[in-house]
Order: sequence, then structure tokens, then C-alpha cells
Amino acid sequence: MVSDAQAQRSIRLVIFGRQGAGKGTQAVELAKHYSIPHISTGDMLRAAVRDGTEFGLKAKEIMDRGELVSDDVMLGMVAERLSLPDAANGWILDGFPRTTQQAEDLRSLLGDAGIDLAIDLNVPEDVVVKRIASRRVCEKCGTNYAAPDINIPTVPCTVEGCGGQAVQRADDTEEAVRKRLALYESQTAPLLDWYHGQGLLVIVDGVGAPTEVQAELVGVIDAAV
Ligand code: AP5
Repeated sequence: MVSDAQAQRSIRLVIFGRQGAGKGTQAVELAKHYSIPHISTGDMLRAAVRDGTEFGLKAKEIMDRGELVSDDVMLGMVAERLSLPDAANGWILDGFPRTTQQAEDLRSLLGDAGIDLAIDLNVPEDVVVKRIASRRVCEKCGTNYAAPDINIPTVPCTVEGCGGQAVQRADDTEEAVRKRLALYESQTAPLLDWYHGQGLLVIVDGVGAPTEVQAELVGVIDAAV
């Protein structure tokens, strides 16, 4: 049984890691575990692309090239999402902040409340490159799969009632991945020092079975928050 104190526990998490480190995979499970929303800026942008809005079409061009959408657009999107009622008792942010400007904007947005913990899901570059090559994402519901072989183009989605096919993401081409990884090193990795300086950073080894990584994450979050 969940006590009142547990039910009211507010947890504000930010998860970092190279492209393909497993941020999305782990954040989905952490969101269920702590009953908080998983807020993925990548998913929000991909939803706009699927909706075919003018903004979505512009975002698609930027994402497919492996570049970053502008800081002010991202801040507006995140600020709006964090103002929704389901985010009142915490959240896990995946994919934001990604630049120093975004980190400063988030700090201004949250004020004194700030975040509770920044997690660096650490996975070496050679491992993420292999994971991305076999990643397939359902076109209908967005669920992630790892194809058993990189040459298998589609994987049937196993989510009940979905019936979609999981395909390679448009930004998972070799050229876009190289650019995204370079941008991670130059724009996002410096934020780890920034959060470390504030005593908010924990580093978790993201290599291992997803369930093992999940158990490690829950352990460090429970110990810190
Ligand atoms: P976004 O969607 O955030 O992508 P990303 O950061 O590139 O991260 P990925 O989704 O590639 O990786 P992940 O760490 O979530 O890995 P996953 O769990 O899928 O952003 C996309 C684009 O949107 C950006 O490039 C940018 O253009 C734009 N954007 C988004 N946010 C922005 C912002 N704030 N500012 C500006 N632009 C922004 O796992 C990868 C694969 O590995 C999967 O197949 C999975 O099944 C498998 N896997 C996971 N864990 C394990 C494990 N433990 N062992 C083996 N396989 C595993």
C-alpha cells in the first residue's frame, strides 16, 4: 500500500546520455515506477511531425539533419508541458536541457524548486552506435524496439491493439547520428559539469540489461531524493 507521504512525493528528474544511451527506454519505466510523466522533447517534436503542422514540418528538416531545434522554441514547448496538471507532482525530463542556454532557462522557469537530480546514463560511443543501428520505432505508437539484426528493416509492434510497424528513425542515418553525437559532446556534455557543480549529478552505468540498469537507477534516485 502506498502511504500518503509516498503518494505526495514530488520527484523532478533530468536524464542525460548520448544518443542511444537508453534515456527513452529507461525514462518510460521510471515514469511508471514513480507515477510521474515522462516528458521527452524528442517525442513531442516527433508528435508535431506526425500531426503535419507547419512547425512539425520545419522541425522535421532540422531533426533529420541531426541538428538542434532553437532554444526559444524548445523552452516554450517545455514550459507549456510543465504547466499541465499531471506535472504538478514531478516529472522526468528526457532530451531537455541540451544546451547551456536551455539549462539556464529551465533554472529560471523552475525558480527555487529546481530539479532534484540530474542523471548521466553513461554508455560509450561504440555501444550507442550499435544500438542506434538496430533501433526500430513504431510509426503508430512510438514504442522502441531493438531489431535482432541491423539488416531487418521493420519489426511488428507488439503493443496490444497497435498493429503498427517499427521502422528506422529518419534521424538514425549514419551521417545524422555522427552529427548528433558531436553535438552531444560540444553542447550537452558540458552541462554534466554544470549540474555536478550544483551537487545534483549522479552517473549511472547504462551498459547492461535494461532491467539491471533500471534497478540501478531506482537505487540512486531513492537514495538521493
Ligand atoms: P531525442 O528524441 O531526444 O533523441 P536523442 O537524444 O538523440 O536520443 P535517442 O532517442 O537517440 O536515444 P535514447 O538515449 O533515448 O535511446 P533509446 O532509449 O531509444 O531527440 C531527437 C531530435 O529532436 C534531436 O536530434 C533534435 O533535433 C531534436 N531535439 C530534441 N530535444 C531537443 C532540445 N532540447 N533542443 C533542441 N533540439 C531538440 O535506446 C536506443 C536503442 O537501444 C533502442 O533500440 C533500445 O531498444 C536499445 N536499448 C536501450 N537500452 C538498452 C540496453 N540497456 N541494452 C541494450 N539495448 C538497449
